[in-house]
Amino acid sequence: MNHALIQYLKKHSDFVPVPDLEKALKARRDALFTDVEDLIEEGYSVEFHPYLGVKLLDIPDRLLPHEINEDLNTKHVGRNLLIRDEVASTNEEAFALLEADPDLPDGTTIVAEAQSAGRGRMGRAWHSPRGAGLWLSVVLKCPVAPDKLPVLTAMASLAVANMLQQFIQLPSEIKWPNDIMLRGRKCCGVLVEARSNLPDTWVLGIGLNVNQQAADFPPELKGLATSLRMERPGQQALNRVRVLRPLLFYLDKVYDLVLRKKYDKIAKAWAEFVHMGGKRISLQQGGLEHTGTVARVDPLEGIALRLDSGETRQFPAEAVNNVRSA
Ligand code: BTN
Repeated sequence: MNHALIQYLKKHSDFVPVPDLEKALKARRDALFTDVEDLIEEGYSVEFHPYLGVKLLDIPDRLLPHEINEDLNTKHVGRNLLIRDEVASTNEEAFALLEADPDLPDGTTIVAEAQSAGRGRMGRAWHSPRGAGLWLSVVLKCPVAPDKLPVLTAMASLAVANMLQQFIQLPSEIKWPNDIMLRGRKCCGVLVEARSNLPDTWVLGIGLNVNQQAADFPPELKGLATSLRMERPGQQALNRVRVLRPLLFYLDKVYDLVLRKKYDKIAKAWAEFVHMGGKRISLQQGGLEHTGTVARVDPLEGIALRLDSGETRQFPAEAVNNVRSA
């Protein structure tokens, strides 16, 4: 692939006359035309006009490392980027890589076009059809005290929610504890895993539905799951590379906060996406159900609930389940 040609076309938002290309790239016309054909073959969207010249309309919707890496100004996340066509699970792939090489760099990111056995929380499967979403795992190597572990999942959902809001202009919400929702439906899930033989090492898995349409989801997810495409005006498809790059950038920013132990900053930003404050909810703790109004939520401290008795009680994150509106 002629990378100089791609770069040159990217710098020009309009048509580039063929003589200009010949001059700038010091290439002959027939060789240039072959290179343009190669780009089209690779999935680049290129318009060719007999008088005006060549114009690059879009990059391929494929996980091409050189496109993902281009000007990716991250410190850790994605610096070592591994692209797979299909794996059982990117989390599993990350563990296999760590077993083979415990020195795998911090922030190593594995992204797959498809997963055949993507896994979700609580032993559920994660539907990961080819090319429809972003299925990725990031290897994090940092000490986190056991009572601070929920911050890892929180940082990932915060990065996704922020990215959706800032880059795709989709109003996202984090549903306790860490599902990312668009208009009440889940578009993204986060699964953090660890292995006892790999100290201070975490595999952060993120599944983000990008271009599915309603009919693409299995029946059990109908009405519960959504994709970015389904939430966009006109249901316009998105180029996954254009979504992945800002996602890696945001992940890197929040990971930096984790490394500097600025957990309170993460918690505060995360809580702004959790629209639970003042709502009436029920939750379970140790088999008992409690109902009340949410006074405060925090990824580490859990939920402070003003119970109907008037007492405000703190429910620690790890002890709470089945949180729902009451
Ligand atoms: C959830 O249940 O909400 C968490 C879903 C996490 C899915 C992602 S997809 C990439 C990574 N690999 C997996 O097998 N799971 C995570």
